[in-house]
Amino acid sequence: MMSSTSGIVLLVVYLGVCVESKLSYGCYGPPGSPCTKHTLSCAKGEVISLSDNLGVITFAKKLNTSSCEPVLQDECDTNSCCKPGDDSKPSDVMPVSEADKILIYNQCSNKESCTVTSPYKHNSDYNYLQYFYFCMLGSKVNNITDKQNTTHSRSGFLYFTGQTKPSSHLTCSCEVTSPGKINVISYFVNLSPDTCSRVKISSQNRQLVKCDHKGGALIFNKWLDQVKEAITIDFDDFSAKRTDTIWFEFGPERDKELNINCTGCIHINSGPALTPAGFKLGVVTAITIIIPLLITGRHL
Ligand SMILES: *[C@@H]1O[C@H](CO)[C@@H](O)[C@H](O)[C@H]1NC(C)=O
Ligand SMILES: *[C@@H]1O[C@H](CO)[C@@H](O)[C@H](O)[C@H]1NC(C)=O
Ligand SMILES: *[C@@H]1O[C@H](CO)[C@@H](O)[C@H](O)[C@H]1NC(C)=O
Ligand SMILES: *[C@@H]1O[C@H](CO)[C@@H](O)[C@H](O)[C@H]1NC(C)=O
Repeated sequence: MMSSTSGIVLLVVYLGVCVESKLSYGCYGPPGSPCTKHTLSCAKGEVISLSDNLGVITFAKKLNTSSCEPVLQDECDTNSCCKPGDDSKPSDVMPVSEADKILIYNQCSNKESCTVTSPYKHNSDYNYLQYFYFCMLGSKVNNITDKQNTTHSRSGFLYFTGQTKPSSHLTCSCEVTSPGKINVISYFVNLSPDTCSRVKISSQNRQLVKCDHKGGALIFNKWLDQVKEAITIDFDDFSAKRTDTIWFEFGPERDKELNINCTGCIHINSGPALTPAGFKLGVVTAITIIIPLLITGRHL
């Protein structure tokens, strides 16, 4: 417990920016049962940064469950079994699985709010879940894909997700420089085995993120390194998967400035993204407009 407390302090110091920490609770129950959708949220203009290096997306068991009744849908926020209550400390906590953690990070990272399906552990009778996260200003989080040359007196942040615009063949780079040393902190890096080799994050030819033996890369909140030389993020013909995410903080030394210089991505989008609805529309168009035209054309 001691170490987690100091861990929180450490993280806030590293952030070097004004952030608000939050602890949210949600009811525990098998999928589909009442109150098993949980919403995490920040104020307008702020975004969620999960912080699970401390094991804080956890199942929790209440100390005193004598008053626990089955939860009803209209009492998700009020049912006393869904939060710690007077006895404040849970009697037992257990981190959620890595797969659940990835899902929650994917859905919530850098979003103003998100609603997640509560993780569930078969054959375990926990009472509630705890989500610990920070809220930070969204405008501080720069997109890797945008052309930019920005100077920061404190930490700078670079972000990429394959979720918003499915993009193919991205080629671009960002360079992060400072007159002093730079702390490199991962908030979340998730690259699939198919795409990891297309992304290079390095300083002086030293890779800061390495693709693992399965080919991908997965890093939650972690201080990675302190470097003296420029850091580059290179996308080389990178066709991102929806789950691909990169989120870094770059912290300069005190009183030193940080420069982020990005080329902006050149990308060949393979036409408008075909959502299932878009695809249906396309098929309907083909049947109702194009095919009759072809047939008419043939008759002319
Ligand atoms: C548990 O909670 C019930 C109802 O809130 C209370 O009456 C009881 O005294 C508590 N038991 C302990 C051991 O604290
Ligand atoms: C980054 O891109 C997203 C989605 O296109 C946008 O909503 C956000 O404002 C951008 N962030 C910055 C700092 O420009
Ligand atoms: C980026 O900005 C810095 C400081 O504002 C400036 O010195 C530098 O020349 C700029 N670089 C480019 C490529 O625009
Ligand atoms: C910034 O980016 C431009 C365009 O890629 C590049 O020519 C320039 O050298 C970069 N400047 C710095 C200071 O990194």
